[in-house]
Amino acid sequence: MFNGQCSMAEAAELSFRVKCRYLNLPISQKEERRRLTFHAKGVDDLSVVARLSASPEYWVFKDLTEYKGKMLTITYEGSEEALSLVYQADTIRDASTFYKETYRPQFHFTTRRGWINDPNGCIWHNGLYHLYYQHNPFEREWENMTWGHATSPDLLHWTEHAPVLHPDSLGTMFSGSAIFDKDNTSGFGTKKNPPIVYAYTADRGDREAQCIAYSLDGGMMLHKYEGNPVIDSRDRWQSHDTRDPRLFWWTPFNSPLQGEGIYSSPYKGEAGRGSGHWVLVLNERNGHSIYTSDNLRDWTWQSHVNGFWECPDLFPLAVDGNPNNVKWVMLGASNTYMIGSFDGKTFTPESGKHRFSTGCIYAAQTFSNTPDRRRIQIGWANIDHLGMPFRGQMLLPTELTLRTTKDGVRLVSKPIHEVATLLKPIVTSEKALSAQETNEILRTKEASPSRGGLEGSLHLRATLNLTYATSAGLRLDGQMLVDYDLNRNTLNGQFYSPQDPTSLSLTMDIYIDRTSIEVFIDDGLYSFSMERRWADNTLERPVTSGFEFWGQDINITDLKLDAVESCW
Ligand code: FRU
Repeated sequence: MFNGQCSMAEAAELSFRVKCRYLNLPISQKEERRRLTFHAKGVDDLSVVARLSASPEYWVFKDLTEYKGKMLTITYEGSEEALSLVYQADTIRDASTFYKETYRPQFHFTTRRGWINDPNGCIWHNGLYHLYYQHNPFEREWENMTWGHATSPDLLHWTEHAPVLHPDSLGTMFSGSAIFDKDNTSGFGTKKNPPIVYAYTADRGDREAQCIAYSLDGGMMLHKYEGNPVIDSRDRWQSHDTRDPRLFWWTPFNSPLQGEGIYSSPYKGEAGRGSGHWVLVLNERNGHSIYTSDNLRDWTWQSHVNGFWECPDLFPLAVDGNPNNVKWVMLGASNTYMIGSFDGKTFTPESGKHRFSTGCIYAAQTFSNTPDRRRIQIGWANIDHLGMPFRGQMLLPTELTLRTTKDGVRLVSKPIHEVATLLKPIVTSEKALSAQETNEILRTKEASPSRGGLEGSLHLRATLNLTYATSAGLRLDGQMLVDYDLNRNTLNGQFYSPQDPTSLSLTMDIYIDRTSIEVFIDDGLYSFSMERRWADNTLERPVTSGFEFWGQDINITDLKLDAVESCW
């Protein structure tokens, strides 16, 4: 056995001909990370770090499809004994437990094994939504950034596929986006088989540079462009923080003449028809820059807006659905945003920064090329899932719209309508109920998430009427979900003022999965997400106080409790 301090020359080695689909690897978080390399003729070398262990806490796997029939040599700069446990098989070790694990979210996307963060390359193509994501397939903590991949017909039922972008000599694969190059302006495909084109950041530690990849089989297999990187802007910014390219096709439809049809088709011309060009929005140090291109390979810097950090998004929306009043929304990683205009080269802010969601949502991205032109956003939550061999999850996909409010035009975010297909009614009551009456109803056998135990994936909708109270809210098993203070005008500690400033009511739409809770207030004007806490954050069963509305003399109207069907 090696003592772990050995050099490459002393690394443990395993060589075999690949006959099976998967490689199973034993992992323990108690081990140090050591370099693990994969080498086979005709396949790019892969070098990552892993915590292989002779006393594994769990197993991870690697898809071996691209190595099939080849001699594969694996070297590990750590325990030889641990490496000797690595084996190929046509089955993934412990696959029979997938999606049945105690703390596996039931209606949110998670990866089978390993870590996930930002959604990447979100796109609809040929009947499927593609979700790529920042992924460490080798353990449940951040490292070895790779693009994972899953597809879904409805953004709820996901199938996970093999990862598509692996670390290379330019670095690890950081966040990025995807577009459908319908007219093959990039030349990566043909007129008959146009490509999906991806932009991503390669992070080498001392440098972040922007790269391009493309797919000719509808997003399953990605090929890196041999001319990478296409943008290296470190010198301009004297900073290595230049990342997360967001692609889209721009046409000058923002003019009144071109207004017709914008609402139904804001991406008219996404494929490169008529006048227009490709836009790449890039986070560079302290804000978002705009680059433009005609072929997705050669990029020209145009402008910069200060005030954002990481994960840009930029898109047009028709205010209140009016195609003659289109505004552009520029977002940063924590869902702060500015509203303004965009002439294809410069974004001019008119208002902001605003924020429509708080809590654990981060690095959200909207889908490109959606068939019905909805602007659908999906965000990441860094949720632990207590001791599971996977970490992190995507939050519910939401539809974004722009609405005129008493404070001006604002983004509104509501779960996509498809979520309703998962709901099975348990309690419906329209009449006014006291807090006590409501709590009693919610504590009945079928309705109680506590009695339902971990199976309890729930949706609760209610209107809270303060009547006399200055503060009121809702707890679940002792955890505060809604904490409204009319005196301070705060909702869970954030300033919140209802549309009718004299209103004593608040509507809440709450989605409760095994490890996360999302709350949408007043039809999506404000939303927040949080980790669902279990007793003392241990693996113990939850405390059993159930739902508790609280507040002096409050009443509850339009109460609706649904079970949420599992997506697995
Ligand atoms: C945001 C982020 C991105 C980066 C990625 C790396 O969470 O820091 O800026 O591309 O994660 O995993």
